[in-house]
Amino acid sequence: MARSVLLFGLLLAHFADAYDLVKTYSGNTFFDDWNFIYDWDHWTGGDVQYQNTTGGANLTSVNEAGNVILRVDSWTDIRLAQYEEKRNSVRIEGKQIFNNTNAVVMFDVAHVPTGCSVCRYTFPRRILYLTRPKSGGSLWSKSGIQQWPKGGEVDIFEAVNRMSANQMALHTAQTCTIPNPNPNASGQTLLTDCTVTTNPDGTHGNGSGCVVSDPQPESYSSFASSSGGVWVAEYAPTAVNIWFFTRPSVPSGLTTAATIDTATLGKPTANFPTSDTCDIAGSLDPQHLVIDITLCGNWAGEVIADTCGALTATNCYQQYVKDPANYVDAYFEIASVKIFGGETTLLENGTIPITTPTRSSATIRPSSTNTRSLIAPTIGDSTSTSTTTRPNDAHKQMVWSAGGLALASALTAALL
Ligand SMILES: *[C@@H]1O[C@H](CO)[C@@H](O)[C@H](O)[C@H]1NC(C)=O
Ligand SMILES: *[C@@H]1O[C@H](CO)[C@@H](O)[C@H](O)[C@H]1NC(C)=O
Ligand SMILES: *[C@@H]1O[C@H](CO)[C@@H](O)[C@H](O)[C@H]1NC(C)=O
Ligand SMILES: *[C@@H]1O[C@H](CO)[C@@H](O)[C@H](O)[C@H]1NC(C)=O
Ligand SMILES: *[C@@H]1O[C@H](CO)[C@@H](O)[C@H](O)[C@H]1NC(C)=O
Ligand SMILES: *[C@@H]1O[C@H](CO)[C@@H](O)[C@H](O)[C@H]1NC(C)=O
Repeated sequence: MARSVLLFGLLLAHFADAYDLVKTYSGNTFFDDWNFIYDWDHWTGGDVQYQNTTGGANLTSVNEAGNVILRVDSWTDIRLAQYEEKRNSVRIEGKQIFNNTNAVVMFDVAHVPTGCSVCRYTFPRRILYLTRPKSGGSLWSKSGIQQWPKGGEVDIFEAVNRMSANQMALHTAQTCTIPNPNPNASGQTLLTDCTVTTNPDGTHGNGSGCVVSDPQPESYSSFASSSGGVWVAEYAPTAVNIWFFTRPSVPSGLTTAATIDTATLGKPTANFPTSDTCDIAGSLDPQHLVIDITLCGNWAGEVIADTCGALTATNCYQQYVKDPANYVDAYFEIASVKIFGGETTLLENGTIPITTPTRSSATIRPSSTNTRSLIAPTIGDSTSTSTTTRPNDAHKQMVWSAGGLALASALTAALL
């Protein structure tokens, strides 16, 4: 009797925390599933021109290890250019939109862009956001169906210049703050307010995002020399959790697993929980992934000195961007990006599950219920002040179930 109750706990743990592989981006087919953004970086005022494709711009490739490369142009010298040209870079946005309450994203990465003026976030970000809050970052997700900041943003990896470690962040159009201190995460909370404010005229105002710093330098400054690492981001009903594993600490089999059970991963590096000050599920739309590299930007001159020394030229662009030699390390090398979940994880047009289930029990919603328009104004609406706490706290149930699992294993072992 006790045993069957415990086994029930074990089953609960399995269904609550286990996510099946539903999408892999890697190797020669990697770029088929991303849209190349062709634009200058008007999101962050960065001094880059994002280029379309692999072909013309020479910025993306697949190396001998089968890993995908995305990089900043590190060969074109524009020091003597007649005009102040921007440097070529890449911003790609995933074609797949995934369920914001039922997904795990895994980035298996060998190298992240580093160097002075590379990327552009740094602490304190407040400085960067005073006049113009921004989306942006390096490995991140945003709403797949609405214009930022609506629908939220999750920054999984984001670092700049020669700072030490990665800073994970959440940006929400709804009011949201995170706890500090947070015993449920190993990272250090730097900023607690996730909210991007709305100006009286409806445009977005301030918002540095709530920021959690990874204590491990292997998450950025010594990332490549430590053979890279793996980020796992869980989008659950009651929390967004991010784990970072240095290469030696990657759980055995994780990068090749067909299923991820987040209950086995230990304490996350960052934990953005639903609480009475934040409705995580309600603050996020279905998301899609973004990978980009940008340089300098409107505010970088103010922060670049923190880790790169005082500027000797008039600004970051003049000092760094013109010389390609500054960008030899400004590239991503990515072994794979994967999305895990279930039948409801990959969504067509943001709201309708795609017919590629991994379990046979999948059902597609009848078309008569597919009435939500592509732009859904009520999701992540910046005018909403909802901070509802979900009464059925599924995550707590998962935590309990995981405890049940451990207990069941221990007792089963004792009984045998
Ligand atoms: C990139 O795409 C845009 C929009 O489709 C197009 O106008 C532009 O010519 C393309 N540029 C290159 C270099 O392919
Ligand atoms: C492509 O990149 C390589 C560096 O990997 C560089 O030497 C070469 O000049 C680039 N080619 C073009 C056409 O930009
Ligand atoms: C940490 O997790 C426990 C168990 O889920 C929860 O009761 C507690 O409120 C969490 N603490 C914070 C600061 O979120
Ligand atoms: C943005 O932040 C600045 C500085 O903290 C403050 O003066 C201003 O009122 C804020 N604006 C909004 C719309 O919150
Ligand atoms: C998704 O959007 C595309 C392009 O707008 C449209 O052709 C397709 O019918 C939509 N699919 C569904 C299931 O609504
Ligand atoms: C997202 O997943 C949850 C849990 O499976 C499901 O209840 C919800 O309907 C899904 N969302 C969409 C838009 O399919």
